[in-house]
This record gives sequence, C-alpha cells and structure tokens, in this order.
Amino acid sequence: MRLLVRFVKQAQRSAQVRAIYHSNFSTLSDLSGPLRDSSKGETSSAWLCGSSPHIVESVREFVEVQVDFISEQEEQALLRELEPGLKKKRYEFDHWDDAIHGFRETERVQWGAACEAVIRRLRAHAFPQDSQLLGPVHVLDLDKAGFIKPHIDSVKFCGTTIAGISLLSASVMRLVREEVKTDWVDLLLPQRSLYVLREEARYKFTHEILKDEESFFDGRRVARHRRISVICRNLPE
Ligand code: OGA
Ligand code: MN
Repeated sequence: MRLLVRFVKQAQRSAQVRAIYHSNFSTLSDLSGPLRDSSKGETSSAWLCGSSPHIVESVREFVEVQVDFISEQEEQALLRELEPGLKKKRYEFDHWDDAIHGFRETERVQWGAACEAVIRRLRAHAFPQDSQLLGPVHVLDLDKAGFIKPHIDSVKFCGTTIAGISLLSASVMRLVREEVKTDWVDLLLPQRSLYVLREEARYKFTHEILKDEESFFDGRRVARHRRISVICRNLPE
C-alpha cells in the first residue's frame, strides 16, 4: 500500500490517496428525524444522537469521541507543521462524483517531537495493541464550503479502526447503516477532539462530515469552518 502511494507521480498523488481511502462510496437518501420517545431510552447524549434509542445503543460500543484529546498548544504545533505543505495545494471542488468536495490532502510519515507525541498517544488510545498500523498519517483539509459525502473507507487498504483528530472547527459526523438508510447516528466532533470508528461502525455504516448549511447536532447548530483532520488507520488483517 505504501509502495502504491509512494510511486505515483505528484500530480496523481491526491487522486491515488483518495482511491485508497474512499472506495465503496455510496449515496444517502431518506433520513428520518430523531425519535423523541423517552420510554424507549435515550436518542442523544453529549456527543451521540440518532434516529432511535435502539440504533444509538447498538452503535455506542463501536464509536468514541474524546473531547479535548489535544491541547491548544498541540493543535498549534500540528497546524505549524501542516499548514506550509497544505497551503501549496489548491482545494479541489470539481470532482462532483468523489467522496469529498472542497478539500486538499496530504500524507505524513515523519513528525516533529510535539506532533509525534500526539500521534503516538492517538495510536495507543485508539488501536488494538497487536494492530498493524498504516504508516502514513492522512491529513485532510476541508474548506469551509467543503464536506465529505457518505462513504465506507476501502476495506482492501484499511482495517478495523479509523481514528481522527479535528483541528480548527467542530463538525458533525453522520453514520448511516448501509442496508437500512433510516438507521443513523450523528457524532458531535468538537475542535481538538478525537473520534474513533471501530468494526461495525466502520464496516456497516457509511460516514460523512456534514456541510456547513446542514451542520446540526441534535437540533443544535454546529458552525462548520475550515477543518483539518489528522487520521490514523490500521491495516486489514
Ligand atoms: C476520510 C474521512 C473523516 C475526517 O478521509 O475517509 O472519512 O474526519 N475523513 O476527515
Ligand atoms: Mn472515510
């Protein structure tokens, strides 16, 4: 996988990265509103809400959000390392059929000491101990007008677990059950939080990041600004 990425020409690199992470892209329709029947349990908590108490409970063990996973100083350190490279690229808006709209991205293997410590902490927290990790960290910079459409990360190149830190902006990540599109949950991802999608949440649900106009969590507006995510993945077994 690394060879695949490393040997593609720079001009093709972004498309290649995208193909690796974002195959199996499928579209979403027909969302039902959150249920409000408290006799059936909770449809929402601080960072998780969904179409029914049942779906919220069944997804809960496969998702996690750690608020303030990194400090403001660590966020600044990541931005200082990432911004110079990102700024050389232009946001891509024109691939209407791709999983992501309004983005630029890169991969990074080597980090300065402060960032290295964050990546190590993320990996220690998110992945099973014996997991083989994908070496390069994926960095995705979404423009304020950008968004991520529903997709499932490539099962060929990525394993059971996807873990990401959100810089610069809060956002809402929606998971929709691929086979029953009325079953969905939303995760509130505050700035500097970590999210982890594991197993069923990663394989059986599409995930997406809502566009600013549609960015609400449990009925509350979550303004979506420019957002950079730093994403680690493991390898398939
Ligand atoms: C992806 C993806 C989520 C994020 O790149 O496949 O789903 O947090 N990213 O940016
Ligand atoms: Mn993805």
